[in-house]
Parts: sequence; structure tokens; C-alpha cells
Amino acid sequence: MADELAIDVRGLTKRFGPRTVVDAVDLQVPRGRICGFLGPNGSGKTTTIRMLCGLLTPDAGSGTCLGLDIQTQSAEIKRQVGYMTQRFGLYDDLSIRENLDFVARLFEVPDRRTSVDGALIRLGLVQRQRQLAGTLSGGWKQRLALAACLLHTPRLLLLDEPTAGVDPKARREFWDEIHRLADQGITVLVSTHYMDEATRCHALCYIAYGKVLAFGTAAQIVAQAGAGDLEEAFIRLVGQAQDNFQ
Ligand SMILES: Nc1ncnc2c1ncn2[C@@H]1O[C@H](COP(=O)(O)OP(=O)(O)O)[C@@H](O)[C@H]1O
Ligand SMILES: [Mg+2]
Repeated sequence: MADELAIDVRGLTKRFGPRTVVDAVDLQVPRGRICGFLGPNGSGKTTTIRMLCGLLTPDAGSGTCLGLDIQTQSAEIKRQVGYMTQRFGLYDDLSIRENLDFVARLFEVPDRRTSVDGALIRLGLVQRQRQLAGTLSGGWKQRLALAACLLHTPRLLLLDEPTAGVDPKARREFWDEIHRLADQGITVLVSTHYMDEATRCHALCYIAYGKVLAFGTAAQIVAQAGAGDLEEAFIRLVGQAQDNFQ
């Protein structure tokens, strides 16, 4: 179904002690779409992503990821979601191949050797498969991390600031790859601080103080905020939120 929702959650809430860091977040993302997740540092993006992939239990809220209940089916969600953490999550002191092989074992990928070979070919890293991951450039590390989180053929990708600190050319190539994956029907929720990346998303969710302040296409958000561009729209939204929430 083209209009099937890969992410469909309402009222998602997480408290750490007395602080509500994610506050009644609603998010709907249709299958095969790329949704950008933006907001200042500390606004609750990573916490939201962790609730969506079943790593954190929400204190309130309900809904589904890939049709699976986020409260009760987190184990199944984890098997079908690829999660790329904010910091390089692989082992610097293992080779490229060893890293991929390790992740494939974790996910009990059938026919592991073929999967890892395929990933190395797609990455263009067959010649360098014995090289230690720690010796790769930032852009290559990110490509390797993306390949690792695709090994178990997830249907939903949750990418947490995947291109932070990556040079512009590598970022562009990374985004070309994200679009190829979406064209294959994979849904992507990706957090970023880069405006050029935001404009390559089908929809944007802007969050601050744990609350969704805007949702829509870049053009809709700019128009609603009465701003000249996306960056100005976000600055306005945060300014209004500061007045309301602080
Ligand atoms: N495990 C935790 N315990 C306590 N506070 C946390 C924990 N994880 C995140 N926080 C706090 O929750 C807020 C939101 O964090 P986070 O979701 O990482 O935001 P973002 O990814 O948007 O930068 C921050 O103030 C952060 O310090
Ligand atoms: Mg974060």
C-alpha cells in the first residue's frame, strides 16, 4: 500500500526524573518517504528515535512502527529497523570486513558471508576490507555504518545525525544513497542540523523542548512561519517556543 504509514505514533512522551524531554510527540511517516528530524541540541531527537526503535520504553503514548506496537512488540521492531547511532558505533580496531561480519552475526543474518560480500561490493570497499575501520575518513566511516545497519535488510532506517562532521561531497553521496533506499521502499527518519539536507527530505519534523513545533514540507514550514527560508523559519519557531515554554 502506497499510503501505508511506516511510523505512526501519538503522544510519545519520555521523562528522565522530573524532566519531560519528549513531550507528546505525534509523528506519521508514510512508507518509502524520507522525513528529516530537526531541532536544537537537547530537544529530544535521539530520545524519540530510541523510543521508535524499541530501545527506550515511552512513559506515555502509543502507536506503531512498521505496523508493530511500540509498547509491546519492541523486540520485533528492533529486528526490522536499522538504527545508526549519533556517534560512530562500530569498532575502530576491527577491520571493515570484521565489523560487517560482527553486525551480521548480531542480527543472525542468514547466509552471512554473501551478505557481507554484497555490502563490501556496494560500498566499493572490497580491496580495503582488511583495513581497520579506525583508519577510515569520516565520510567512509559513515558509509560503513550505513552498510552495517542495512545488513539485516531493515524496512525502516533511523539515522541519528549520520553526516555530522562529514565533508560536503561525502554528505551529498550519502544523501544520494538515502534516496536510492527510499526509492526501494525503505522509510527513513533522519536527524540533521544541515539545511541543505533538510531540503532533500520529503517532510520535516521540527522539535524543540521535546515538542513538535512544525511538521510538513520545507515549503509549507517556511510559508507558515512567514519566513524567507527554512533557517529563518526554525529561528522564529524556537523564539516563539522560548516565550511559551520557558
Ligand atoms: N538517559 C538519560 N538520562 C537523563 N537525561 C537524558 C538521558 N538521555 C537524554 N537526556 C536528556 O534529554 C534531553 C534530550 O536529549 P536528546 O534526546 O539526546 O536530544 P537531541 O538528540 O535532540 O540532542 C537532553 O536534555 C538530555 O540531556
Ligand atoms: Mg541527539
